[in-house]
Amino acid sequence: MKNRTGTKLSIVGAGAVGTSLAYAALIRGAASEVALQDINAKKVHAEALDLAHGSQFLPPAKIDGSDDVAVTADSDIVVIAAGAKQKPGETRMDLADKTVSLMKSIVPPLVEQSPEAVFLLVTNPVDVVTQAVVKISGLPDGQVFGSGTVLDSSRLRYLVAQECDIAMSNVHAYMCGEHGDSELPLWSTSTIGGIPLADWEKQTGQLSTARRQEIAERVVGAAYEVIDGKGATNYAIGLAGTRIIQSILRNEHAILPVSSMLHDWHGISGVCMSVPQIIGRAGVVKALELPVSDEELRGLRASAEHIRSVAAELGF
Ligand code: 2OP
Repeated sequence: MKNRTGTKLSIVGAGAVGTSLAYAALIRGAASEVALQDINAKKVHAEALDLAHGSQFLPPAKIDGSDDVAVTADSDIVVIAAGAKQKPGETRMDLADKTVSLMKSIVPPLVEQSPEAVFLLVTNPVDVVTQAVVKISGLPDGQVFGSGTVLDSSRLRYLVAQECDIAMSNVHAYMCGEHGDSELPLWSTSTIGGIPLADWEKQTGQLSTARRQEIAERVVGAAYEVIDGKGATNYAIGLAGTRIIQSILRNEHAILPVSSMLHDWHGISGVCMSVPQIIGRAGVVKALELPVSDEELRGLRASAEHIRSVAAELGF
């Protein structure tokens, strides 16, 4: 039972993603305690120390780092960022086998330390990993979900905003499906300043079907582009993860396309995949029943089947 006030965020995996997430969360003042855990004791100690040395310039927060899972005890949120790194040329799905095996060993002790925490999976392939962790953890499925296509949707909004020279906050558009090669944009419900894209194209000549196709392809290829240049993606996922954490800890009910177990979402069930969901203190409150076109639904079904088949091969 918790005997403290405040909010505790634990991050498992002190690699590029875990530490960028910690850095972003601390700068945003997302939690009053941030604990890093990693099997590499020396590295996790150093990462926590480096972050703690910047405390003067951050909103107040207690920062810890340890290789002992006990450092995560009584968390409000446990983020799992541990796992194999995607090498240039590899897809996220190529990591499935190794990462799911890792989850089988790390998740049960984490659940034991923080049975009431919301578990946020960031490790790839995030949909398959989430599907496995829902089952491994035995927790209610809204309490366990993945960062999904929150980052991809930010990439989409960035490209649309650039193309139209409009503030990103006025672009509403989601990438949905797998956080990976089979994902797709839901153009039919996308808007700019409340104007549906079809009307936007008529008014401005921007965002033709061909141009939208190019943008979608750039989003799908975005991680490959970054990995090719610097070996990993870390800053944007750190920020995307922090946005999800804020919606949980402040019970914001923000709508974010996270990956969670779907129950008859446009007929799609029993698979973890991203669709826009309402996120609050307990985790996923509800998947949004936003309308989709026939073509989008076909793409989402294909994406769901791809995730389902990889998860099934691994026994989930
Ligand atoms: C990303 O999309 C690789 O999944 C990671 O940045």
